[in-house]
Amino acid sequence: MGLMTDLSALSHESRRFEPPAELAASANVTAEAYEQSNKDRLAFWETQADRLLWDRRWDEVLDWQPPFASWFVGGRLNASVNCLDRHVDNGLGDRVAYHFVGEPGDTRTITYAELLKEVSKAANALTELGVEAGDRVCIYLPLIPEAAIAMLACARIGAAHSVVFGGFSAQALIDRIQDANAKVVITADGGYRRGAPSALKPAVDEAVAQCPSVTSVLVVKRTNQEVAWSDKDIWWEDVVDRQPDTHQAEAFDAEQPLFLLYTSGTTGKPKGILHTTGGYLTQVAYTHWAVFDLKAETDVYWCTADVGWVTGHSYSVYGPLANGATSVLYEGTPDAGGKDRWWQIVEQYGVTILYTAPTAIRTFMKWGDDLPGSRDLTSLRVLGSVGEPINPEAWIWYRDVIGGGRCPIVDTWWQTETGAMMISPLPGVTSCKPGSAMGPLPGISVDVCNDAGKSTSAGFLTLNEPWPAMLRGIWNDEARFRETYWSRFEGRYFAGDGAKWDEDHVLWLLGRVDDVMNVSGHRISTTEVESALVSHPSVAEAAVVGANDATTGQAIVAFVTLKSAAVDDGEALLKALREHVAKEIGPIAKPRTILITPELPKTRSGKIMRRLLRDVAEGREMGDVTTLADPTVVNAINEKMGTSSGED
Ligand code: WT7
Repeated sequence: MGLMTDLSALSHESRRFEPPAELAASANVTAEAYEQSNKDRLAFWETQADRLLWDRRWDEVLDWQPPFASWFVGGRLNASVNCLDRHVDNGLGDRVAYHFVGEPGDTRTITYAELLKEVSKAANALTELGVEAGDRVCIYLPLIPEAAIAMLACARIGAAHSVVFGGFSAQALIDRIQDANAKVVITADGGYRRGAPSALKPAVDEAVAQCPSVTSVLVVKRTNQEVAWSDKDIWWEDVVDRQPDTHQAEAFDAEQPLFLLYTSGTTGKPKGILHTTGGYLTQVAYTHWAVFDLKAETDVYWCTADVGWVTGHSYSVYGPLANGATSVLYEGTPDAGGKDRWWQIVEQYGVTILYTAPTAIRTFMKWGDDLPGSRDLTSLRVLGSVGEPINPEAWIWYRDVIGGGRCPIVDTWWQTETGAMMISPLPGVTSCKPGSAMGPLPGISVDVCNDAGKSTSAGFLTLNEPWPAMLRGIWNDEARFRETYWSRFEGRYFAGDGAKWDEDHVLWLLGRVDDVMNVSGHRISTTEVESALVSHPSVAEAAVVGANDATTGQAIVAFVTLKSAAVDDGEALLKALREHVAKEIGPIAKPRTILITPELPKTRSGKIMRRLLRDVAEGREMGDVTTLADPTVVNAINEKMGTSSGED
């Protein structure tokens, strides 16, 4: 995303939308929260930690040895008990935890008491399989209740889960299992995707063959498709169903690893982001309650994210369950069973809070107002957005067409690394500007600074105080942790995003400033796609850039040069290259456009000039080409661009 273009484009938004009076009058959080947290940030977070059930209270709220933080030092708790047992013990066992909606139309209603039993059985099963506190378990599942059950079962016995999105390839799974040294993989025969069963087990078979650390593979039966079977494989129903449905959970240290979640960085290898227990749970519970104004007794909350992403971890599983909320969990794609499937679900379950991504909102805009218009969406009262900047048109459409003009929109900025929401309006307090995440939440401190680290109105977004849900490191890679987040600005976390304060001191997020693309709210690194491309036998060199895209935010555009022996058979080659990337990383990383060019534009020192490629990809005149080693390359690329259809 062109930082400077956006700076000028966004500087004049003057529309304001006040919180609805009724919501403001009964809001969970008032403006006082900002005052309290400003007065004493750590005391504020201690108050929030008291939302949880601790077996042992902490001795010290924060031990900060930059860049390493320990929150609630000495405290002990169990995340699974906080999400389940304590609600059941409080008499809420019959409250629905999840309304599950499968893509083919099957449904399951799971109360807190039932979820506790399922999680207890799964915890007992994992123990039987030899999983112990401190181990890692890889979860590769569709968005079915067993995904949440598996996560909570791991948490219950102190094993860290590493959820790998079901759309990732066998190779991506291998990298993640090996890096984490996972002992057990939990998967399914398949899941339903776009109206058809889609296999998961073959990727696991391929991966496990190369991952000696894995001793067992637990397989949930979801689609009943044929699967190959090895001596490590066990059906979930065969081992879980026969377990006792009670499990005495042990309390763990506040800093016990809760999960690893791999995310793309600027280099090819994904980073295992490490989150721990007490601080993480405190901040996800607080933000889920505060930012959505959650009334757990009456709200029906739906976060549309897959559990393969951090949004699913924090706001489909840990946040809502810690708060005793009732959530919808929907397995499929937005158009499975009709392009109004989501609005059908909202109507049927009386969803009151909807949390989704701008890319989905823009897709629905394209599909037209009639689809949501023909459903009763009057139950909705708060709308959330996450994953990328939401453009003002999409914001207004979301508010008017989905929210009927009644609902506040909370645009929430955060990252896999931050674990929980950081920048967002509060629905009962903030007067919102469409397209802006407005400002830091209570207890959070941000600073926009220039290259020299000096506060400025437009520049790099940094977080200058530690926060409870912050990442505790990159798994097995302290050097990369320090280098990526803490080296650019002394003592401060560098988020990788550009940001700007406007004339009203409202904060605007401007997209990534590094070589990370954001496609449909998912992070993919340019180098990761480049390495995938050059691993194809026909490819000599590849350069990948993110280009603005009206629906997905950014789209992947690849410039590729071929080996001299390779045959350019046009569409067939382009198709093969896209498939190759899908195999190496996953279908989400398939380039939208691939251009085969005779050369890549390079400086005399051999550095690829991405700026020029971004110009080409976004259809602009190319900027300054004087530093190119061979300026004629530009003409060749431009010619190609003119003749390429590019898209699938
Ligand atoms: C990157 C983090 C947080 C869960 C989903 C993505 C971008 C996220 C917003 C927003 C503008 C946003 C940033 C960030 N981003 N939310 N509301 N406004 N940009 O998690 O995969 O870790 O990606 O997503 O660029 O750095 P992620």
